[in-house]
Amino acid sequence: MGANGEQATRTLSNGAEIPVLGLGVWQVRDGRECERAVAAALETGYRLIDTAQAYRNEASVGRAIRSSGIPREEIFLTTKFYPGSRDPFAEAQRSLERLGTDYLDLYLIHWPQRGPTWAWPGMERASEAGLARAIGVSNFSAAELRELSKVSQIPAAVNQIQFSPFEYRRSLVEACEDAGVVAQAYSPLGTGRHLDDPVVGRIASATGRTPAQVLIRWAIQKGLSVIPKSTHRERIEENFAVFDFDLDEDAVAALDALDTTNQTADALARRQKWWS
Ligand code: A2P
Repeated sequence: MGANGEQATRTLSNGAEIPVLGLGVWQVRDGRECERAVAAALETGYRLIDTAQAYRNEASVGRAIRSSGIPREEIFLTTKFYPGSRDPFAEAQRSLERLGTDYLDLYLIHWPQRGPTWAWPGMERASEAGLARAIGVSNFSAAELRELSKVSQIPAAVNQIQFSPFEYRRSLVEACEDAGVVAQAYSPLGTGRHLDDPVVGRIASATGRTPAQVLIRWAIQKGLSVIPKSTHRERIEENFAVFDFDLDEDAVAALDALDTTNQTADALARRQKWWS
């Protein structure tokens, strides 16, 4: 619970709780940099760590988790199937070996390369075999979620999407809510680009918070789980200190107005779809 009485987790369709705040390690170098970031996050109180096969840092994530001394079951660990590979089940086994653990809390299809449905049976097998407790997707549009729901035996628990006031994707978030899919925000700081925005800066000054805290808090108040990335301990701590304040209605409205996606139901702008 945060100081304002808010839930610090969201409930997934498999009944598990996912923390609303986690550390993302996209673009974190394998080795000491990654191990230190994950260790700092766990010491700060983060219990959600988000990696991917494509990030090539799963082994470092695993080492940091094991040496933290925190029981595995207290940590929510996500990795993602790289859809340039063919077999989600075999790749889950390889991820588990690299991570040095025997289950994933969440296994996502990283993006809908070659369509939104072909990999799902393999994801379901990974779930049924206990390799992953929950399975889901990332970078799926509302239309792709609908296509997937027509063929899935196990529903997608999560859709992890690019999300910030500038990439608000309101229709996509609503589609996730309607389908019982928890939306999760990656690049909540716009990979750092949004931190210098004057509107964000004004709200930060007015609330006595930092721009990063304002952007993270906004995404949490929108109901998403959020995974900011940092390799710096003081920023990792700063990004976690978002449970003792609320953005008021005016601040939320001013941030909402920054949207450049026209409230889209798409997961990415056409030019950003690196796989097609
Ligand atoms: P660094 O890793 O050097 O700390 P996003 O989560 O949107 O991908 O943004 C990550 C980027 O924002 C990284 O470049 C990260 O830099 C930077 N960053 C993360 N947290 C903060 C913060 N609290 N203040 C300033 N920059 C931050």
